[in-house]
Amino acid sequence: MNAATATVPLRTLADLPRPRGLPLIGNLLSIDPPRLHQVLEAWAAELPTPFLVKVAHLDIAVFTDPELSQTILRERPDRYRRPVNVEGVLAEMGANGVFSAEGAAWKPQRRLVMQALAATNFRSFHPTLQAITERLLRRWQRAADAGEVVEMTHDLVRYTVDVTCALVFGEDPNTLEQGEDVIQNHLALIFPSIMRRVSMPWPYWRYVKLPRDRALDKALAVVHRYVHDLIARARERRAAHPEQEPQNLLEGMLAEREKPDSGLSDDDVAANVLTLLLAGEDTTAHTLNWTLYFLAADRALQDRGFAEAQQVFGEARVCPQHEDVKHLDFFEALATEATRLKPIVPINSVQPLQDVVLGDVAVPAYTRIMFLNRPSMLDAARFAQPQTYLPDRWLRNRGTPVEPHETRAYVQFGAGPRVCPGRYLAGVEIRQVLSMLLRNFTLELAVDRSQIREVMAFAMTPSAMPVRLKRRDG
Ligand code: HEM
Repeated sequence: MNAATATVPLRTLADLPRPRGLPLIGNLLSIDPPRLHQVLEAWAAELPTPFLVKVAHLDIAVFTDPELSQTILRERPDRYRRPVNVEGVLAEMGANGVFSAEGAAWKPQRRLVMQALAATNFRSFHPTLQAITERLLRRWQRAADAGEVVEMTHDLVRYTVDVTCALVFGEDPNTLEQGEDVIQNHLALIFPSIMRRVSMPWPYWRYVKLPRDRALDKALAVVHRYVHDLIARARERRAAHPEQEPQNLLEGMLAEREKPDSGLSDDDVAANVLTLLLAGEDTTAHTLNWTLYFLAADRALQDRGFAEAQQVFGEARVCPQHEDVKHLDFFEALATEATRLKPIVPINSVQPLQDVVLGDVAVPAYTRIMFLNRPSMLDAARFAQPQTYLPDRWLRNRGTPVEPHETRAYVQFGAGPRVCPGRYLAGVEIRQVLSMLLRNFTLELAVDRSQIREVMAFAMTPSAMPVRLKRRDG
């Protein structure tokens, strides 16, 4: 029995309501991977939840109750796991690291990652972060002076890759100041491919390669070479200074790998390098992008951001000191509120390792379970004026708290033992970028809002975010 056990008569999966489908293939034709979250959300608006989706031979139980989601996420890794096919798809790509590892293999990787991303490392990292943020400022100043439209989805992914590499691998690739041939172009193919493959009821690509699968193979070859070179340089640095403690996650993993009973292989090290590159890139970049989507439409909020940034860092253009980051709550609230309405993670997926009872439903072991995160974040019983972009609701210590405000329904970083270990890093990046942006520029979208689509590519990304910037200093 588990925490979610009910005392009422149980239903089975077969008793759950289902969206209309076809014989044999069920709802297969409705499952369009880039729109998966919207398709499921539309069914959740029509049907009582939980409901059952059939994709050919696969049953997927879809829930929306955030309390149940919290319970399940906290009962990992013993009672639930990430879906088995996620591990399979990532393993084939050489990316079976801490995100997809399970049980005994997951624990040592998680420990290393937690150490590397701990908040205590950020004081010494601040000068590097400041330098990368200044680079982004210069790039945007040049674009503003030239009257160019900035495609933010490109710039912000460059920023997050530069930051992740500098903090986690001890090398700053400076892609912000490079031309078009950057590693991000190759990484960009990976997330949509993961999304497509985990949504397929059978792994066709193991038998037939379509042009997009061949394009993915080429991108993966470039990315693996990049990862291999990063590791080789970290090994050289360690060999040159054997007396030194590991300086970053990569060196920490290599030190661990060298221990006779570490349980880590060279492939594990490479898989985690790739995992962190991917995990730290799109999530943070597109959280920022969705924030710009709302900010661009609200000049008063931009002016407030300008005043907040000026108050914290005076005449400086970029947050000058690590100590000041904690005074930038307003900027993180802008992003948190943006992802309540435009969740980067609209779906959390798990599989139970044993038969479980969820609410009044008996769910057999290994059933695919999906939790939709947005319906409860748009529920007036949990968040006041749920359709309104209202960052102040997250600033509980300023003014009158906006009620109701049920933070347990906001699981953008997951929950429980596998909660995102990068959330502090993401918070620092968000504070840095948004405070720099609003301190120095005003912004407006260069297209009509209605042209920006939601695209599910493992993270939920905007189809584009073209922005015109104007310098505050004229
Ligand atoms: C706004 C930005 C981010 C969001 C919204 C986000 C969201 C998430 C979510 C929802 C999970 C799954 C949690 C769960 O299963 O309970 C996760 C896991 C993970 N994230 Fe993040 N993430 C972000 C940034 C980052 C960054 C910057 C890094 C590191 C560079 C990172 C590294 C990871 C890793 C390694 C895992 C796997 C943890 C495990 O399975 O033990 N994330 N993230």
